[in-house]
Amino acid sequence: MLRSLLVFGVICASSVPRALAATAWRFSGPATSPTEQTGNYTGFSNNTLQDTHVVKGKAFNRFIQIWLENTDFEDAGSTPAWENLAKRGLLLSSYHSLTHPSEPSYIASVGGDFWGLHNDDYYHIPENVSTVIDLLEEKNISWATYQENMPTDAFYGYSHSSTNYLNSSAVDYPFYMRKHNPLEIYDSVSQNPARQGRIRNFNDFANDVVNGSLSQWIFVTPNMVNDAHDTTTDFCADFLEYWLYPLLDDDRFNSDGTIIVLTFDENETYAKQNRVYTLVLGKGLPRHLVGKTDDTFYTHYSLLSTVEANWGLKNLGRNDVNKTMSNVFDFVAKKSGYKNVHVPEEKRPQLNVTGVFAGPLNPQMYLPFYAPEDLQIKGAGGQGVYVADSLDTSAKYSTLGDAQNLTTTPYPWIVEEES
Ligand SMILES: *[C@@H]1O[C@H](CO)[C@@H](O)[C@H](O)[C@H]1NC(C)=O
Ligand SMILES: *[C@@H]1O[C@H](CO)[C@@H](O)[C@H](O)[C@H]1NC(C)=O
Ligand SMILES: *[C@@H]1O[C@H](CO)[C@@H](O)[C@H](O)[C@H]1NC(C)=O
Ligand SMILES: *[C@@H]1O[C@H](CO)[C@@H](O)[C@H](O)[C@H]1NC(C)=O
Ligand SMILES: *[C@@H]1O[C@H](CO)[C@@H](O)[C@H](O)[C@H]1NC(C)=O
Ligand SMILES: *[C@@H]1O[C@H](CO)[C@@H](O)[C@H](O)[C@H]1NC(C)=O
Ligand SMILES: *[C@@H]1O[C@H](CO)[C@@H](O)[C@H](O)[C@H]1NC(C)=O
Ligand SMILES: *[C@@H]1O[C@H](CO)[C@@H](O)[C@H](O)[C@H]1NC(C)=O
Ligand SMILES: *[C@@H]1O[C@H](CO)[C@@H](O)[C@H](O)[C@H]1NC(C)=O
Ligand SMILES: *[C@@H]1O[C@H](CO)[C@@H](O)[C@H](O)[C@H]1NC(C)=O
Repeated sequence: MLRSLLVFGVICASSVPRALAATAWRFSGPATSPTEQTGNYTGFSNNTLQDTHVVKGKAFNRFIQIWLENTDFEDAGSTPAWENLAKRGLLLSSYHSLTHPSEPSYIASVGGDFWGLHNDDYYHIPENVSTVIDLLEEKNISWATYQENMPTDAFYGYSHSSTNYLNSSAVDYPFYMRKHNPLEIYDSVSQNPARQGRIRNFNDFANDVVNGSLSQWIFVTPNMVNDAHDTTTDFCADFLEYWLYPLLDDDRFNSDGTIIVLTFDENETYAKQNRVYTLVLGKGLPRHLVGKTDDTFYTHYSLLSTVEANWGLKNLGRNDVNKTMSNVFDFVAKKSGYKNVHVPEEKRPQLNVTGVFAGPLNPQMYLPFYAPEDLQIKGAGGQGVYVADSLDTSAKYSTLGDAQNLTTTPYPWIVEEES
């Protein structure tokens, strides 16, 4: 059952503490190690995934993306922990976010569009809108998302507060936020019982690593302090030393053919182009690229096209097939035969713009959810568009007419919190 009601208006996130950068908080590990469960997270794991089947890709066999928060490019690159990581990986120096604030970039990275969204409110996206999960499952490629401090698998709430393990005299802290858990926002994933068990927390992660059953496509969201959102780049660097460093040396995580993408949702400074520090790590990275820089223009949509190219997947027919916006990671493009486009600096779209795009998640400039414009288009995987059974393929953007202002009429895509 969809736990949402049709209401209008927008739920504000302003009650949530932000910017703890000013406090004296110091990083401390929530668990003994990333492969141990801990009571500092609410829900212990009840099971492990059973993903031992490997579908070989053209350039890699496992794709792990780790999302960090709100950090300017130079700021990230200047810390010793990041310099050290950069020596072990490939720096993507022209990788860009899509807009501001967080939630739109997260949902776009799995669904190919941010649907006009320009805030972090409590939305859901109807079941006829497809995501990368549909593309992966068609090829039997296993997947999971790990959300630190999410209390239970596929938790639907807007946020979750739990024991403040950094300060035992402080009240519970909202370590988990739905806005950073994109697959939970798509009904096609969160309302599908067979998929719910793959929206997991970090205790599940520990269990899955130890069990040797990590999936082939993985989306990782550290909590609100570890991802730098409420803290600082230095705090986040300490988290990476605690969490990522040991995992890079762990074959159960970084196995042969594994690619790890470490990225930030957005640049902190809105007034600047939205370039974000992004590293590719892992045993699947060709040796000659270690310690190097690739200045190809990429965006978060490249996370879709790269995966499509690697496994010969269908596409979503959204911005994952927009040639300007979705260059495939160069070493993957070379192996799959995909031709990237050169996008010189002056031709790059302004990706720091927010609030002016019409779409279903913009109540002031509302359009219903629409089908991909060109259902015949071939994407980076060399295949056609994935079309969900429930999609009305005649409702294309070009047929919708003008956007409407729904601020005084019921607005369908906001979730009302249960009281
Ligand atoms: C919870 O986190 C604190 C701070 O890092 C740590 O001292 C404590 O051992 C952790 N508890 C468990 C059960 O891992
Ligand atoms: C799909 O993957 C599962 C394990 O995840 C495996 O048992 C099954 O044989 C695979 N099916 C095909 C058609 O490859
Ligand atoms: C991101 O923010 C930093 C700090 O303000 C700025 O120097 C940088 O130019 C911004 N954008 C890019 C393209 O890195
Ligand atoms: C495991 O099951 C218990 C009881 O149903 C539940 O409280 C807990 O949240 C579950 N753990 C996860 C990670 O979902
Ligand atoms: C811990 O929390 C208490 C209660 O909110 C606060 O007074 C104290 O300053 C905090 N300590 C640190 C190091 O932030
Ligand atoms: C993984 O977990 C399954 C049960 O969920 C169990 O049958 C299997 O033995 C475990 N494997 C390892 C290596 O722990
Ligand atoms: C986006 O960044 C450019 C500089 O790269 C700046 O000129 C422009 O004003 C910014 N736009 C917004 C909406 O902040
Ligand atoms: C591709 O994306 C850019 C930036 O959002 C946009 O300006 C352009 O119109 C898009 N192209 C197509 C074919 O949709
Ligand atoms: C939409 O309507 C509201 C309420 O009447 C108004 O405040 C807002 O400016 C309108 N927005 C646009 C983009 O027309
Ligand atoms: C998708 O489903 C929603 C909810 O039922 C509906 O409003 C919308 O028109 C549908 N769009 C398409 C293109 O199927």
